[in-house]
Amino acid sequence: MLRQNSLSNIILNQLSLSTNPSSSNESALGIAIIGLGGAVATTAVAGSLLMKKGLQEPVGLPLAEFGHLDLVSYKNLHFTGWDLYQDDLYKAAKHHGVLDREQLAAVEEDMSNMFPLQAIRNEAYCEGVVNGANSTETHRELVVTIQQQIADFKKEIGGNVVVINLASTESHIDLTDEKYQTVAAFEEAMDSHHECISPAMIYAYACITSGTPYGNFTPSVGADVPALRLLANELDVPVAGKDGKTGQTYIKTVIAPALRARALHVDGWFSTNILGNRDGEALRKPKSLLNKINTKGDVLANCLGYPVEDHVVKINYYKPRGDNKEAWDNIDVTGFLGHQMQIKVNFLCKDSILAAPLAMEIARCLDMAGRKGRGGVAEALGVFFKAPMTREGNEPNHNFTEQQLELLRWLEELNELDDTPLNKKVEEKQAI
Ligand SMILES: NC(=O)c1ccc[n+]([C@@H]2O[C@H](COP(=O)([O-])OP(=O)(O)OC[C@H]3O[C@@H](n4cnc5c(N)ncnc54)[C@H](O)[C@@H]3O)[C@@H](O)[C@H]2O)c1
Repeated sequence: MLRQNSLSNIILNQLSLSTNPSSSNESALGIAIIGLGGAVATTAVAGSLLMKKGLQEPVGLPLAEFGHLDLVSYKNLHFTGWDLYQDDLYKAAKHHGVLDREQLAAVEEDMSNMFPLQAIRNEAYCEGVVNGANSTETHRELVVTIQQQIADFKKEIGGNVVVINLASTESHIDLTDEKYQTVAAFEEAMDSHHECISPAMIYAYACITSGTPYGNFTPSVGADVPALRLLANELDVPVAGKDGKTGQTYIKTVIAPALRARALHVDGWFSTNILGNRDGEALRKPKSLLNKINTKGDVLANCLGYPVEDHVVKINYYKPRGDNKEAWDNIDVTGFLGHQMQIKVNFLCKDSILAAPLAMEIARCLDMAGRKGRGGVAEALGVFFKAPMTREGNEPNHNFTEQQLELLRWLEELNELDDTPLNKKVEEKQAI
């Protein structure tokens, strides 16, 4: 729980922003995106360019008002990344249909010259998305390539790099397998090119072992493999995830604590979605859908303090909607004297418009954590995720307001710290 004085500090700092908006860190920050050609990634790249050109204000970016924090300024963000599709980013953005005609025209020249790097391809983990040959390199060779690409990007921009996973949702994985439990077992599986290692894990491993902060916006299993979480803690590399909390679950974690505060008992919560973007198409595959349903499922009991017997979550692919997802919630509640009531929520949202700014904020926060020497699982970023990663033994807290205050408290704490020199633990690990 936050102490009253830290709460007032946060509010005071918030008030002081408008008078001090330009004190953000002026270094360069590279965001290397896994899934660079996707709807969320291309929206982030275009949004960043539009802000740099002075054509857009930072509306929808949750940390824009905290100008006093030592976060890299939006105008100093640079992008690269990997994708299965090799189209230039203008063509990709046009395909996704998120940006309007004027916005696309304003970024056409810049984005036409940006191309994704070759992605790791493995059909077994992304059925229906990887249409073509799997990568032929070994897991270890792929790690070396990714690390070299990150190092090249760092050199090119003259700043730090953070990797954000925005790729299609991979198949569900049983994390109890012993190969995932210890660093030694995981590295043995890497060395033997074992099939239990997914593309998302290879990217995450490449980041952690090169000291590159890593955020997982997808429901796929990445740095949350027990062995990788251990490795990130051991090497002091900031990691966060997973599955961005953008639409229905965001609203759910705002409403449920309020119902609890008024002692309105939730008898049932029916949630359904229609979406028609490429992500929705990936989620048509039952194994990928299971990952998404799992990350959406846990929040209610956590916010209410009891399990809801009839908590139903459905996701339907419906092509005509494209990126304009529609989410419906029907909540049945019982109040005083056993009287029953209903709440209906209908969120007509734009998936990528909600997600892209969060991905950018996650990258800026992870970079700050890295610079301040605060590695391992960045629990305070839980507000951005449906299934927040926690440090060993900690239970996630899904209550939106409490998460937001925790994020601001953590950022204020980091803000007091000086930047630390390079991560020695990573160098030692590489020297072995
Ligand atoms: N939009 C939201 O509100 C939201 C919320 C939470 C989570 N997410 C997650 O974010 C991710 C991106 O969403 P999107 O709408 O941009 O999806 P998208 O399908 O438009 O983009 C995903 C991209 O990843 C690429 N890809 C697939 N496998 C890859 C690999 N191994 N390496 C590199 N690239 C690969 C695909 O080619 C595609 O271009 C999805 O996993 C989605 O579930 C989105």
